[in-house]
Amino acid sequence: MADHREFNYRRLHSLLGVIPIGVFLVQHLVVNHFAVYGEESFNKAAGFMAGLPFVLVLETFVIYLPILFHAILGVYIVFTARNNVKNYGYFRNWMFKLQRITGVIVLVFIAWHVWETRIQIGLGNADLDYSLMENILTNPIMFWFYIIGVVSAVFHFANGLWSFAVTWGLTQSPKSQKVVSYATILIFLVISYIGVRTLIQFAYGA
Ligand code: HEM
Repeated sequence: MADHREFNYRRLHSLLGVIPIGVFLVQHLVVNHFAVYGEESFNKAAGFMAGLPFVLVLETFVIYLPILFHAILGVYIVFTARNNVKNYGYFRNWMFKLQRITGVIVLVFIAWHVWETRIQIGLGNADLDYSLMENILTNPIMFWFYIIGVVSAVFHFANGLWSFAVTWGLTQSPKSQKVVSYATILIFLVISYIGVRTLIQFAYGA
């Protein structure tokens, strides 16, 4: 019975990592990328997202609660669950370890990022506009903190798609797992580029 419950929790953990958290991550980075087309474009895109009806209800059910569940069970998996990884070979074992390491980095990053943006805006201490991110990212320490946080989040998502496909039985043969490996490397490179390019824009205006 307890095993059955744990199985269901792990399935839910896996699903939430892709829908809605992964979908939100990609959407968030794409909307922020409007910064590259200028201050006004970013303010318009961010303003549109913030102006969606029932935005707090949407945020709570699509972002906060799923991330909270995924993060709490994720920390439990990282620190207490036995690594029952099958013998996938050198590369996959490293990906397995990096999945856990990036999960912890992403947790710290998200907590800090939400604190200095969404919570400060909610408290009325900051406005949601281009200069908010510009002020944060012109500090070189914060710039590198954001680079590490964003690249870790994208890695965690892209590599997570690979293990998601295994978890849900979508890829069973070694050949299909290899194809998905290449696809997820491509996803990692494209989305990382979108995220990093935006950070460079805010920091250096280039
Ligand atoms: C941007 C936020 C995040 C996204 C998009 C995300 C996405 C994913 C995805 C798609 C998976 C693969 C699911 C599977 O293996 O079936 C996954 C696995 C995992 N995530 Fe996250 N995640 C995020 C944040 C976190 C956080 C904050 C933690 C906390 C430590 C975490 C810990 C884990 C762990 C430990 C696994 C591996 C689970 C396993 O091997 O069974 N994740 N994540």
